[in-house]
Amino acid sequence: MSLIKPVPPERLPELLRRIPKAELHIHIEGSLEPEMIFKLAQRNGVTIPYASVEDLRKAYAFTNLQSFLDIYYAGASVLLKEQDFYDMAWAYLEKAALDNVIRAEIFFDPQTHTARGVSMETVVKGLSRACKEAKAGLGVDAELILCFLRHLSEQEAFETLEAALPFRDHFIGVGLDSSEVGHPPEKFAKVFAKCKELGFRLVAHAGEEGPPEYIWSALDVLKVERIDHGVQSTRDAALMQRLAKDRIPLTVCPLSNQKLKVFPDLKDHSLRKPLDAGLCAMINSDDPAYFGGYMNDNWQATFTALGLDASHAVQLAKNSFEASFCDAAMKRKYADRVSSVVESFH
Ligand code: ADE
Ligand code: ZN
Repeated sequence: MSLIKPVPPERLPELLRRIPKAELHIHIEGSLEPEMIFKLAQRNGVTIPYASVEDLRKAYAFTNLQSFLDIYYAGASVLLKEQDFYDMAWAYLEKAALDNVIRAEIFFDPQTHTARGVSMETVVKGLSRACKEAKAGLGVDAELILCFLRHLSEQEAFETLEAALPFRDHFIGVGLDSSEVGHPPEKFAKVFAKCKELGFRLVAHAGEEGPPEYIWSALDVLKVERIDHGVQSTRDAALMQRLAKDRIPLTVCPLSNQKLKVFPDLKDHSLRKPLDAGLCAMINSDDPAYFGGYMNDNWQATFTALGLDASHAVQLAKNSFEASFCDAAMKRKYADRVSSVVESFH
């Protein structure tokens, strides 16, 4: 039986807004709103093949992951200067603060920018400055995670790592993203082994569109500590047991899964299965500017579609801090903040 006092349905949205959360799956390039794409295009003299903000927004009708990635990489082409990266990150952090996100572990894709001649220093310093200022300025404790693009080679991932190492104090971990099917985790075995040796925290997208086998190999070959998405895990009972036994977090992104047709109807989303099995799953926004909402939009839509209640809210919020890469004392402090917000809510 739940120990959380029930909250009447009409007050649940308010609780969801107020509860403190960690966001662990947000691609900063996916927070670039159409308005900012146009503003930066103008500021930097970059031409984009859309006549207006509305015209660009209309193109956000995705059929699968690849159809989204093509537009997402094109949108990122307006980012050239350190200030552009700062402005993008700050805009996200302001929205995160309004949603009571108090810890954010933010992905960035340096290869999307270095391939266009933007230096690693420009990318990392712009993002990192926004993260540093967010603590005092917005009450958001933000860190960066560098992602390798899995449609590119492992050699290119190694070159990216080498270019990033002079800035290693600016990011806490590495991840793996982009086109999943056909690019299994084991393609990056050596570079992840090197990153582990260097002391980076490790995560990888697996089981978004790809099969449960990719989740097994992300765990057993790459040795990641969290699985990004992982929604295909529910197709494999042995894998669910493994995720439970090792308490491997799943950073689930419901509106993303809906927009990319993983679960075209949010009512069919598999999130209840890991939650009912007591796994460490939580809700995140992935690419909020493209998928129809930030953290609280994801929470509200998912609670409505799946009929979740206040006890799920506490479970999801506590899971988010447990799964974060903060130290044990901070995790306890954050979990206490969740409890005190819920207690004072009544
Ligand atoms: N890059 C940005 N968003 C992504 C997603 N949902 N899956 C894989 N790579 C991504
Ligand atoms: Zn993602």
